[in-house]
Amino acid sequence: MVALKRRAAIMISGRGSNMAALVAAARSPAFPVSIDLVLSNRPDAAGLAAARCAGVRAEAIDHREFGQDRTAHESAIDATLRAAHIEIVCLAGYMRLLTPFLVQAWQGHMLNIHPSLLPSFPGLKTHARALRAGVKLHGCTVHIVTQEADAGPILAQAAVPVLPGDSADDLARRVLHQEHSIYPAAVAAFASGATGGLPAADACLANPLD
Ligand code: GRF
Repeated sequence: MVALKRRAAIMISGRGSNMAALVAAARSPAFPVSIDLVLSNRPDAAGLAAARCAGVRAEAIDHREFGQDRTAHESAIDATLRAAHIEIVCLAGYMRLLTPFLVQAWQGHMLNIHPSLLPSFPGLKTHARALRAGVKLHGCTVHIVTQEADAGPILAQAAVPVLPGDSADDLARRVLHQEHSIYPAAVAAFASGATGGLPAADACLANPLD
């Protein structure tokens, strides 16, 4: 019997290399998640074209069209996710802070990848900050999204060494390589319940938010 795949969306703002890693992993019949939608808040995000090339529906919901009304922007995102019967939302370089509206709407169903070993270095410019702090290990974290940015329950981490002479770009490259492995692995484990994430498949065939 072929197991039903969980329907996932990926939210991006830029190049989308983690998105591409998830799309590639999801091609395997054994991967328990299908990538059914890619959303960006920026119409010029390079990842949108890459997703379409890979045959994935990809749309921009431009935050600038909503002015200061962040909730209206997120309502449009939420409606698009629901209409696509999405069960899991993966943030992958989505560069806008979420309001309580979207976080609560997708509580327990939204994951993020962050380029540091949380709880160290939440926020931006993590690689430069790690170098300045003089840490010998750096890395990346997949976590469940909660209202506090980069602070939800941790699902997976990978560490890399900080080598003498590293620039922030060197470190970013080394970390990104690990991101591309741990995000698909963490999403698969989460979707299949191995991390205590989603409820049993039968309970989750419909949109979990209904
Ligand atoms: C990654 O480093 C990710 O950890 C962070 O934003 C970056 C996105 O890169 N949240 P990409 O768009 O997936 O290439």
